[in-house]
Amino acid sequence: MPEHQPYKDNTYTDCLIIPIVENEEIITQIPEKYEMLHPTITTLVETKDFEAKALQQATVYEKNSGHKRILLIGVGKKEDLTIEAWKKTIGTAVRTAQDKKSTIITIHFPEWATEHFKKNHSITESVIAAHIATYSFDTHKDKEAETTKVMTIYWDHQNPADKELWELSTQNAVHIAESVNLARHLGNTPPSEMTPASLAKEAEELGKTFPKLSVNVLDRTQIEEHGMGCLIGVSQGSILEPKFIIMEHMNGAQEEKPIVFVGKGITFDSGGLSLKPDPYIRDMKFDMLGAATVIGIMRAVAALNIKQNIVGLVPTCENMPSGSSYRPDDILRAMNGKTVLIQNTDAEGRLILADALSYASRYTPKHVIDFATLTGACVVALGNERSGLFTKDDAMSTALQNAATQSGEKLWRLPLGQEYSEAMKCEVADVKNIGGVGGPRYAGASTAAAFLEYFTDYPWTHIDLSCSSYGEKGKPWIRGGANGFGVQTVITYLQSV
Ligand code: BES
Ligand code: ZN
Ligand code: ZN
Repeated sequence: MPEHQPYKDNTYTDCLIIPIVENEEIITQIPEKYEMLHPTITTLVETKDFEAKALQQATVYEKNSGHKRILLIGVGKKEDLTIEAWKKTIGTAVRTAQDKKSTIITIHFPEWATEHFKKNHSITESVIAAHIATYSFDTHKDKEAETTKVMTIYWDHQNPADKELWELSTQNAVHIAESVNLARHLGNTPPSEMTPASLAKEAEELGKTFPKLSVNVLDRTQIEEHGMGCLIGVSQGSILEPKFIIMEHMNGAQEEKPIVFVGKGITFDSGGLSLKPDPYIRDMKFDMLGAATVIGIMRAVAALNIKQNIVGLVPTCENMPSGSSYRPDDILRAMNGKTVLIQNTDAEGRLILADALSYASRYTPKHVIDFATLTGACVVALGNERSGLFTKDDAMSTALQNAATQSGEKLWRLPLGQEYSEAMKCEVADVKNIGGVGGPRYAGASTAAAFLEYFTDYPWTHIDLSCSSYGEKGKPWIRGGANGFGVQTVITYLQSV
């Protein structure tokens, strides 16, 4: 993880990054101290090899600049510039610099950025974007093939009066970005290693690092004692023991009701006896990304010492086929007493969440937000850049969507409603675990959300991050694998409630 420092003039670095806006003269955007670059950049402009279009890049070399290389990155038109686009710009440039084996990087932070966005926001979000861009998962690769480790990122900003603001914003940004990267790391680790027990251990480690974060892990016997029949049912086919992770950060007023986060922690989803065919079984190590997000949130909340009462709940197990698996036709009983007819063992996430959402009631929470890679249907509906949001609480919906916009993540509200709830009703149990409206599995993302609603008795929002939380290929501003979706949005959201 890189360190972030203010740039001191005449420090030699491997790459100087200069963001350039499209609709203003390029030469005038080059800081005065880099006047020696003018001839080369004039040529770039004349040849139209660089027009500063969004994410366009050009590398130039000028020894007298004091940097090994200079990377110009296009910002596009200022009037179109959102925080999301700006973060992509920073992330892309940092990734490129790192791919060119730069270990020490300087970013010229243009003064206009602090006016275009709110000042502290522009700083925090830029540092987060740079920090996230440097993360790579190569613990299982040959040393030679490992991604270059970025040691230091120098931020060259003009205004000395902003020194303290930079220090504070940078510190906060690093706490957030490290938590995002932790979520990514948990997700990327292979399922043979990131088992329910390992996930619990990671949470317990955080409890040791942050004294105000109390972590308690329930084992199989305790899970049974709590009556969490659905979590037990799903876990049955695996030789791995289920765990129920409870993380509490009670740092607000005693009488203040807590906000509870719940994350689906299926460490591998084979589908169980309703086995997933290839290729759908691939990438199912990512079926614990809801859990990763919640653990990431709790890390950030603790590191930032947020003055609120916040709880993270993670039901975790593996969904495997075997002689001891739960079966279609089984009826399971959740912690709140409701019974569920199993029709498909691949609809397992909603089952373990049923128990966790029931457990959340004991906090009489202010509100509850769950994160889950819950349905392929949500991927079909939204593609892989946006997560689905389901709630009957308009205020929560608006606040979460605003927070997402401010942190450059994307949410889209999808419906809950009577027809979806009806579709989950069942003749032989209170509810069944699959259903459709108008046809089998129609509206699969909404029926899954409606199933969860049966286990809530407080203001609640469900976020389905099935596809937006990982990508095979990655993007210019973030490497492939898990991306930690949700952590940044929630931290912004917590400031608004
Ligand atoms: N973990 C999957 C959902 C999923 C699919 C996440 C693709 C990420 C990418 C979930 O447990 C599942 O298998 N859901 C089934 C539900 C169906 C049986 C009603 C699905 O979406 O196919
Ligand atoms: Zn499944
Ligand atoms: Zn699943």
